[in-house]
Amino acid sequence: MGNDTFDDVVRSRFGRRALLKLGAGAGATAMLGPVAGVLGAGAAAASDAVERSGSAPAGSSLPFASIAPNRTDSMVVADGHSWASVISWGDPILPGAKRFDLANQSREQQEKQFGFNCDFVKFFPLYASNNQGLLWVNHEYTDGFMMFPDYDGDVTTARAKTTSKDKVDVELAAHGASVVKVQRKSDGSWEYLANQWWNRRITAFTPITITGPAAGSSWLNTSADPTGTKVEGMLNNCGGGYTPWGTVLTCEENINQYFSYADDPSVPADVRKAHKAYGLPAGASDRLWETVYPRFDARKEPNEAFRFGWVVEVDPYDPASVPKKRTALGRVKHEGANTAVSSQQKVVVYTGDDERFQFLYKFVSKGSLHPFDRAKNMDLLDEGVLYVARFDPDGSGTWLPLVWGTGVLTAANGFVDQADVLVRTRDAAAAVGATKMDRPEDVERNPVNGKVYMVCTNNTNRGVGSNPGTDKANPRNANAWGHIIEILETYNDAGALTFGWEIFLLCGDPAKPAHGTYWAGFDATKVSAIAAPDNIDFDSKGNLWIATDGQPSALKDGSATGPNDGLFAVPTAGSERGHVKQLVAGVTGCEVASLYVTNDDQTVFLSIQHPGEGGTIAKPTSAFPDAKRDGVARPTVVAVYRKDAKPLGS
Ligand code: FEO
Ligand code: CA
Ligand code: CA
Repeated sequence: MGNDTFDDVVRSRFGRRALLKLGAGAGATAMLGPVAGVLGAGAAAASDAVERSGSAPAGSSLPFASIAPNRTDSMVVADGHSWASVISWGDPILPGAKRFDLANQSREQQEKQFGFNCDFVKFFPLYASNNQGLLWVNHEYTDGFMMFPDYDGDVTTARAKTTSKDKVDVELAAHGASVVKVQRKSDGSWEYLANQWWNRRITAFTPITITGPAAGSSWLNTSADPTGTKVEGMLNNCGGGYTPWGTVLTCEENINQYFSYADDPSVPADVRKAHKAYGLPAGASDRLWETVYPRFDARKEPNEAFRFGWVVEVDPYDPASVPKKRTALGRVKHEGANTAVSSQQKVVVYTGDDERFQFLYKFVSKGSLHPFDRAKNMDLLDEGVLYVARFDPDGSGTWLPLVWGTGVLTAANGFVDQADVLVRTRDAAAAVGATKMDRPEDVERNPVNGKVYMVCTNNTNRGVGSNPGTDKANPRNANAWGHIIEILETYNDAGALTFGWEIFLLCGDPAKPAHGTYWAGFDATKVSAIAAPDNIDFDSKGNLWIATDGQPSALKDGSATGPNDGLFAVPTAGSERGHVKQLVAGVTGCEVASLYVTNDDQTVFLSIQHPGEGGTIAKPTSAFPDAKRDGVARPTVVAVYRKDAKPLGS
């Protein structure tokens, strides 16, 4: 802060638009609300217009021509760009793995092959090279109908009638994550390399340590592990993030689907109540894994599900390292977990709970980052404070601490200790009065402007029936299209306990007034339709890149299907701020589950998850990438890249 005048502070923290809106004489505290805040879309649009008309266009760093919506079973990329597959489900990565063979799968093979339904993807350079590195990929979940030609199920209800241990074992081994070495070829495309020292599979069988305040809690004890500190595997790893010391944070999300009989009278009442808040099935699961493994049956192992729903930290550079479930970061349906460093060198982790009317969280470490000593950072995420966000209507916000013994989080209100607060994070967050959001997905800090972008993917239940109606941060009822909120931490310090916020995008089809879209004040006639924003990343210029999950239903509007999911880019500053354009479209039935833009801006890795979803092997809806060869569509990581070494979007 130093000697900055008040105007300097406002200008640097909030930009010129803030000054225009603020006028003279407002106090510094009041400033954090109305200034950064917004929220009539109309008011914000008006002030943006003032800014644009008063300055010459800055020139776009994303001049590419947007592609048209795509409803075909092909990848489509904007002019100047190319795409190629990097690795697909079943590809061999460890010694002894065979080629993908639909008819001859086994746990043993799957444990050495790339897993199913690729999600969070991150490239870790090796040897300070942009051309060689390790690709981390989550494998979120499995779909038996797209994995086994004889899957005994009823497609209309998507419910298996029976399953076998062999199939369940293949599915467990197809969960988790992969680490695989990749290298760039001379034409700009990428290939993976099998049998490398770094290559690794983590599955739902891999031993994982539970660390942090909830480790050893009675909530986490099972007959297999009375210590509550060791768990078999990780499940439903959706999004993720990475730390400044080069580890991955991989996030367990919809873990409810693996468990069963959670509301059976034989299950202790407090356990039943706790499981209910996370949506565990009262009876049998759709997957029927409980018929093979008792740990998925709450009548037999009531606490097993408490050992899932965490952020897991893994060192991708050490294939022998034991992954750790970091309980200090809370237990929710984590979409992702993205880090920032505060002015006090504390490590901050932002994470969203992807369910309707759930919350946005951030964790601030107790210890400080050691910039030159990796080993000292390795357990930084075990101690600190977890906060949950309250968005106030004036455009300010507060991070509310989830600390046992403070405020309402006391024994008198049913919270017995900090482990209890963390295992039942949702209950604690609701108790302190956090704001119920429209499904918080990815939350990530822009490395250029420091603002934190929070994606709310959709919430068709808002304002419906007895559900909560709109608020300023979730301004549309029956929100089928999703929105993105821009958060500015006070003094742009990730460790701040207050923040300002405004709506950045209200997604949808700009041609349909009923969607009520808003594009940071940009001209709606020039933007691409986009819905169900999910995961984000930034390029080196601070442009926001958005992958979607759900356009076929969200943009259907009476037709048979909306366009396929895709990848979009939007500047966050300058005269093009809000100008959303589409660079990539995926194939039939897929979501674009994750993206990672490389440091040189020349490649974006994309997880093309569940191509052909809704179909079966016998009745396919997608052949991506090569069903003629493979017998089935396969989830695949692709690279979209430039052949001319120019940045993506140019
Ligand atoms: Fe796995 Fe939040 O989507
Ligand atoms: Ca991301
Ligand atoms: Ca999603």
